[in-house]
Amino acid sequence: MAKMFFDYIIHGGDYNPDQWIRTPEIWDEDMRLMKLAHINSATVGVFSWATLEPEEGVYNFEWLDTILDKMHLNGIAAILATPSGARPAWLAEKYPEVLRKDENGIRRKFSDRHNHCLTSPVYREKVRSINRILAERYKNHPALKMWHISNEYSGECRCELCCEAFRKWLREYYHNDIDELNFKWWNAFWSHSFNDFDQINPPEKNGEDSASALNLAWQRFITDSHISFFENEIAPLREITPDIPVTTNFMKRYNGIDYQKFANYVDLVSWDSYPAWDKGKNLDEALETAFLHDFFRSLKNGQPFFLMESTPSLVNWQDVNKLPKSGIHELASIQAVAHGADSIQYFQWRKSRGGDEKFQGAVIDHCGHENTRVFRNVTRLGETLEKLNSAVGSETESRVAVIYDWENGWAVNVFRGYNNICRDYVKECIKWYAPFYKRGISVDVISMQDDYSKYDIVIAPFLYMLKNGTEKRIEEYVENGGNFVATYLLGIVDTDDLCRLGGFPAANLKEVFGIWCEETDSLPEDMPGKAEFNGKTYEVNHICDIIHANGSKILGRYKSNFYSGMPCVTENEFGKGKAYYTAFRNDGTFADDFCEMLIAENAVAADADIKLSDGVFSRKRGDIIFIMNFAEEERIIVLDKEYTDTLKNESVSGKITLPVCGYLIIKAH
Ligand code: GLA
Ligand code: ZN
Repeated sequence: MAKMFFDYIIHGGDYNPDQWIRTPEIWDEDMRLMKLAHINSATVGVFSWATLEPEEGVYNFEWLDTILDKMHLNGIAAILATPSGARPAWLAEKYPEVLRKDENGIRRKFSDRHNHCLTSPVYREKVRSINRILAERYKNHPALKMWHISNEYSGECRCELCCEAFRKWLREYYHNDIDELNFKWWNAFWSHSFNDFDQINPPEKNGEDSASALNLAWQRFITDSHISFFENEIAPLREITPDIPVTTNFMKRYNGIDYQKFANYVDLVSWDSYPAWDKGKNLDEALETAFLHDFFRSLKNGQPFFLMESTPSLVNWQDVNKLPKSGIHELASIQAVAHGADSIQYFQWRKSRGGDEKFQGAVIDHCGHENTRVFRNVTRLGETLEKLNSAVGSETESRVAVIYDWENGWAVNVFRGYNNICRDYVKECIKWYAPFYKRGISVDVISMQDDYSKYDIVIAPFLYMLKNGTEKRIEEYVENGGNFVATYLLGIVDTDDLCRLGGFPAANLKEVFGIWCEETDSLPEDMPGKAEFNGKTYEVNHICDIIHANGSKILGRYKSNFYSGMPCVTENEFGKGKAYYTAFRNDGTFADDFCEMLIAENAVAADADIKLSDGVFSRKRGDIIFIMNFAEEERIIVLDKEYTDTLKNESVSGKITLPVCGYLIIKAH
């Protein structure tokens, strides 16, 4: 059992009563409706700074006092936000340094949200101060159960303060030794050697924007800036409310902050999930969402996470904001719980009347009452979640891991060469995740620095950057009996983005994999090559390594181009384990067929012995098995033995028909 922050599933969402301060009767109606919808929590104060502190040093907490009291009275837990995500106009006016500068050195005007300088001492001080006041005021309030820090941290600033902070960061990172930096950035190239750290600027269009080592350093610096901003935010909270956990909501596929590093600083991971349902790609969306849940779950070693935001209906930021059909959000919420979510929360509770998000879906629409499709759906889900409280805190045991490494993702994006079409690293990882998910086998999504020893199979798609020392860890893993699968461009650069010397794959990995990669070929989109594996022919899409087998068994060979006949899939027995190299990219079924072989050879069983069918996924969490139909048609699944239907509390077995968006939650007897 993992650390538990609640002993029931949180069902709630962003609640902005400050937008309705002129009509406090709506607050009472909110309470009535929340209870009706089986809502047990609300996230308050996310963008409330201007209401909380309308003028510098002038505070207005009455409304929040009232709301928190009402919430407590109605059994609704408060996830209280710190308001740094958007600053008041007076603050921007009096202290312009709190606003970001863009890469042309132009200061943003007061606008939007999320555009504060991460370095500004004034902003940090102001944030600390309002957070301290909030914590002091509500430290003993019984509704306060969790801190929600700011909102979706993101972006960057290039003001003088940030540039100076970057140089300071570089000084520390490179031991105050400009020659070390020059060497690690390979600055003899194009006469780029610096004499002093003061000469270095962030990557910018009008300056250096392609140097990969600079870009990488900048992204690491931005991550550290966000972390130090976060630490500044939570300092007063830790001091005044040491027992209240803190989280900050991460985003889907947001590339700007290394969440694998950031996760070490939060008590609980939370993220915002907005799949584009019902646009003809529900299975892809379900697969990607599953992968992301597993990624966020794996950030803290399998500890359950919170789904901090999701929409109960539509969003307002896609080109076409389609209304999802009833049932799909419920199914997606069940999927989140199956993958380790201990909460289902919405953005937002009540639809804004004006502003940018007046058409973003909410539980309560502009009509203001409960007689809506969305409200009924939310209520139904709330009732269901109450029957799943026993899942809270429970974890998933995975025997398989896919390495999706954040810094590798950055490195893959910044190098110039080979092929630009195939840079979608997440997509490649999902390609190797999918074969397991489809077969009901749970997968952890880990970084290259996580522990591999608990897995039977570790798959490392497109692991182009091999941080120093990883090559040794791969060797130890395989030597001790693990199965490690790598794909093309393995271990080309080291932690500093310098190419490794002495042939690929790097260092000892030539022996571990029993191969040597001589060249890498890139193929135009309309000129795929051919490869053969296990009697089947596959396209070689975009990129492939030309390898020699040095002691490894050849499982597949190229069938086109000047390297026709050379190996493209190899297996090497090394110590007690095996290292596999799949040297080409394929957008078809190769990963699936290859994984099928691996699964069979290693007798990796599905989490539950249930015959699934196309579009139906299953996941076991603790002793609960979730079976979910994401297909556009009804599906039949077969239960070979008797189970208990957790929701109905009755026995089930045999053939079961799952309607569209249907799901079944069962336990073995
Ligand atoms: C994000 C934000 C919310 C809101 C929603 C709209 O996730 O955190 O404040 O803007 O998107 O979908
Ligand atoms: Zn700045």
